[in-house]
Amino acid sequence: MQRLEPGDLDRPAPWRRGLPFVGSTLSYVRDPLRMMRTRYDGCGAVSEGVFLGERWTVLLGPDACGAALKNADKAFASGPGWGKVVGPFFDRGLMLLDFEEHHRHRRLMQEAFTRPRLAGYTAALGPAVAAALDTWEAGPGFRVYPALKELTLDLATQVFMGGADLASPDELDEVNEAFIACVQAATALVRLPIPGTRWGRALAGRRLLEEFFGRHLEGKRAQQDSRPGDDLFSVLCALRGVDGSGLSDADIVAHMIFLLMAAHDTSTITISTIMRQLGAHPEWQQRLRDEAAGLPDCPDLDQLDALESFDLVMKECLRLLPPVPVVARRTVKDTEVLGVRIPAGRFVAVMLHLGHHLPEYWPDPERFDPERFARHRREDKVHRHAWEPFGGGVHKCLGMAFAGAEVKLVVHQLLRRFEWTVDADYRDTMNYRSLPFPADGQPVDLRSRERNFA
Ligand code: HEM
Repeated sequence: MQRLEPGDLDRPAPWRRGLPFVGSTLSYVRDPLRMMRTRYDGCGAVSEGVFLGERWTVLLGPDACGAALKNADKAFASGPGWGKVVGPFFDRGLMLLDFEEHHRHRRLMQEAFTRPRLAGYTAALGPAVAAALDTWEAGPGFRVYPALKELTLDLATQVFMGGADLASPDELDEVNEAFIACVQAATALVRLPIPGTRWGRALAGRRLLEEFFGRHLEGKRAQQDSRPGDDLFSVLCALRGVDGSGLSDADIVAHMIFLLMAAHDTSTITISTIMRQLGAHPEWQQRLRDEAAGLPDCPDLDQLDALESFDLVMKECLRLLPPVPVVARRTVKDTEVLGVRIPAGRFVAVMLHLGHHLPEYWPDPERFDPERFARHRREDKVHRHAWEPFGGGVHKCLGMAFAGAEVKLVVHQLLRRFEWTVDADYRDTMNYRSLPFPADGQPVDLRSRERNFA
């Protein structure tokens, strides 16, 4: 396979064959980093291959990924790219809108993520996290991931919906299952409405989510004049553009479905990775505990911002395992990346994950070493796009600051309540069929600590 170098203008990208129809989908699902590395070594930063039955251009390494994120000639559209991966299940969520329409909705939604609002959300999160963690029963082999998933969905509904009136005590579990079904359809090869298949479960999940948010929307609209809330759902209902028009009911439901998925799936895996690494590196666990020792159980946003070691650990965990390893695009016109031609209508996989592990940017890349982000080292500064867990360009994560506050708050409260360890020979069991998650639930040996909450 001939490798193209930047400057080989007007040449098509090298083509890497895989199995018929599925192409490289299975190698990705089995071991994405290995697949990316092999492709990068063999074909370079821009290549072509088959995924999910379609021809894709694959971008690897910070130069190529950075070019697509920057999108200088507006050739890369997000909606049709992500739509191919996530199907109709997150249709018209902010990430799936493009160009003018995306710009208008994003400007409206930014209203819900200003610093004063974040401070308010953080204040609401503290007691909710405390109440949930107080129900955790410590013990050996505690499965962190499902417990965190329940917690973060609960937090997201409280903060972004102002709480949810549940039709039954199990309704939030059903909503969680529906989100899981929608996310897991991402790598389904059979994409037909057949009950019992991944696709069929996702269709049923989307219906349940539309019904759930539609029911709550009626309540929010009814409240608008008398006592409007300051949660995101209420803010979306109240938003008005310069011409005085607001968002339609269907748009609000679509934004809420996408946002709640974005808000809880990604923070769950981030906190789960942090627990996994702190369990294997007790010196870092203690360092974080000491750093926050003087803080109350529910610190405010400024206090959380000041926790530097927490920042280092979170950044390193997002480097090792970015919750969104790949972002999807589709070209709306002919373009080029690093001098390699990409025709209009092509699906494009922007594989951010590999850039986090390339030894030319990160010395000893597989080592957990949070200090690499410390002021005296700043290895992430070596390339503008070497560390991109939140993406870049106009679609850069809208919830980044919220995620930082939420993750730090949960980790802080965990450190006060528990100590935990992960066995030195523990082997990760990540599932990459959708967003990554630990197939074994991420077991840790969890022990309660004596607490003094004076
Ligand atoms: C550690 C946690 C998180 C990570 C790693 C993460 C990652 C990402 C990435 C990579 C994108 C860009 C996708 C693309 O370019 O196609 C994105 C977009 C987005 N994220 Fe996050 N996210 C996180 C948490 C959150 C939270 C907590 C929220 C909501 C409160 C959120 C809301 C969004 C939204 C609305 C978008 C779409 C932005 C747009 O298209 O304009 N995310 N996120």
